[in-house]
Amino acid sequence: MSDVKEILGSYSVDVIETIKDNLSTITPKALQEASVYLTKAGGKMIRPCLTLISTKAVGGKKESSLNSAAAIELIHTFSLIHDDIMDDDDIRRGMPAVHKVWDDDVAILSGDTLFSKAFLMISQSVSSDVSYEQINKVLSTVADACLYICEGQALDIEFEGCYDVSEDEYLDMVFKKTAALIAASTKAGAIIGGASDEIVDVMYEYGRLIGLAFQIQDDYLDLVSDEESLGKPIGSDIAKGKMTLIVVKSLFEASDEDREILLKILKDDDSSNEDIGVVLDLFDKYDSLEYARKVAQDNVDKAKQLLKILPDSESKIALEKIADFVLERHS
Ligand code: IPE
Ligand code: IPE
Ligand code: MG
Ligand code: MG
Ligand code: MG
Repeated sequence: MSDVKEILGSYSVDVIETIKDNLSTITPKALQEASVYLTKAGGKMIRPCLTLISTKAVGGKKESSLNSAAAIELIHTFSLIHDDIMDDDDIRRGMPAVHKVWDDDVAILSGDTLFSKAFLMISQSVSSDVSYEQINKVLSTVADACLYICEGQALDIEFEGCYDVSEDEYLDMVFKKTAALIAASTKAGAIIGGASDEIVDVMYEYGRLIGLAFQIQDDYLDLVSDEESLGKPIGSDIAKGKMTLIVVKSLFEASDEDREILLKILKDDDSSNEDIGVVLDLFDKYDSLEYARKVAQDNVDKAKQLLKILPDSESKIALEKIADFVLERHS
């Protein structure tokens, strides 16, 4: 795992620099500061690194996809700023959330600023290595993912307090809110690297599968991690009655009596630590944590299988390791 952290760290250096350069001209000052704030807070940078590594894995140069990689990280950061307003969460990347340091208005605008900058950066990345046609494809890939994020976040909110969500409905929501952008990251990298349509599609599918696993692990960590390692509040999903695979499975398997207990706590706006303990015991009783991890692991395994289509390279090995990291990570 430390191996993956080193890989992410080394690819991130240029991404961080590119983001810094592109955000320096925003005015007024409060909007500039609020827009830059989270980009300096040390995210894992998994999406931009996936873009750069995917470009290399299909035979391209990582410099060619640098702007698009940095842009995708900005899209992700925009989604986090808006997500913290929607989820009413106060801590992000170990720091007070943007809407807490400033206010909702500035947070909404700084998210919109990052979103707009991202599309400008991609549109300006035509070069001797990257054609207008490739950039046009990347633009529609990323725009498509943004639309999915909106749809997924809308479903995430709709599913709060809705206790008959099926596993397929949960997976559809998670594809849209999280996996679509991860899939766009690997697809954009492959497009810029000059991959065939077949390989571009395989890279999208690889990203989609690890993206589903990524969110299942995120839901798991919300239950079992701690705020310091995670850099964001834990127990937030239960407090908000969010639908996760663990909850979907528990509600499906539970006896009428246990279902009743679970629903009462999930519906309660301020669950106590004791309540959370009861919920965790019920998850345990119905093996729901294990079940969710198995679904996530199956997706990771399938994603790694898909990589067999790529020629052997260090980048291919990095993509295999990142697939495993999605489930091994503690933060
Ligand atoms: C958090 O994403 C939001 C989800 C889609 C679950 P990350 O876990 O990649 O967040 P950072 O970028 O490392 O902070
Ligand atoms: C995140 O889902 C989805 C986004 C598109 C940002 P969560 O709401 O679970 O993400 P965290 O846990 O706040 O990072
Ligand atoms: Mg959230
Ligand atoms: Mg959310
Ligand atoms: Mg979460």
